[in-house]
Amino acid sequence: MRENIVLIGFMGTGKTTVGRLLAKKFNMKFIDSDDEIIRKTGMSINKIFEKYGEEYFRNLEKIVIEEISKLDGCVIATGGGVVKDERNILNLKKKGLIFHLNGSVSKIKENLESEIHKRPLLNCDNYYEKIKLLLEERRELYKRASDFDINIDFLSSNEVAVKIMEIY
Ligand code: S3P
Repeated sequence: MRENIVLIGFMGTGKTTVGRLLAKKFNMKFIDSDDEIIRKTGMSINKIFEKYGEEYFRNLEKIVIEEISKLDGCVIATGGGVVKDERNILNLKKKGLIFHLNGSVSKIKENLESEIHKRPLLNCDNYYEKIKLLLEERRELYKRASDFDINIDFLSSNEVAVKIMEIY
C-alpha cells in the first residue's frame, strides 16, 4: 500500500488546496482533519472555539488524527496546530510521509487576507503580529515533525504539488 502524504504547516500555507491537487493527480483519497472535525460535531471550527475553547478543539483534533492515521494511501491535510501535540505527529508518521508547507509571515498574511474571519486564533485587530508570534512559537515544531520542507513563498499551489510529486 502507498504511504499517506501528510501536509502540515501554518494556516494559510495552502495545505487544503495543495492536498486536493495531489489527491487528484495521484488518484488518492483526500482527507482534511478540520473537515472531519466539522463533520463529526456538526459545528464550524469558529463555533467550536467560541463555545468550548481551544483545549476542547485540540482534543477533537487528537481523536480525528488518531483515526485518520490508520488509513492507507490518502492525502491528508492537517490543521496548523497539529504539531502542538507530539502524539499527533507520532500517529501520522506511522503510515505517512510528512511535508511541511513553509511560508513567510508576509506570504501567510497575503494568503489569509480574505478568510481571516475563519481562523479563530487570528481573530484580532493586529493579526499580522499574531501570525508572527504563533509562527515563531511553532517554527521548530514544524521543522522537527516534517520529513520534507517545501518553501511556498514563490510557488503556486500547483507548483507546490508538483514538487511534492517529485519527492513522493
Ligand atoms: C489552527 C489552524 C486551523 C484550524 C484551527 C486552528 C491552528 O486550520 O485547525 O483554526 O492552530 O493553526 P488551518 O491550518 O487549515 O487553517
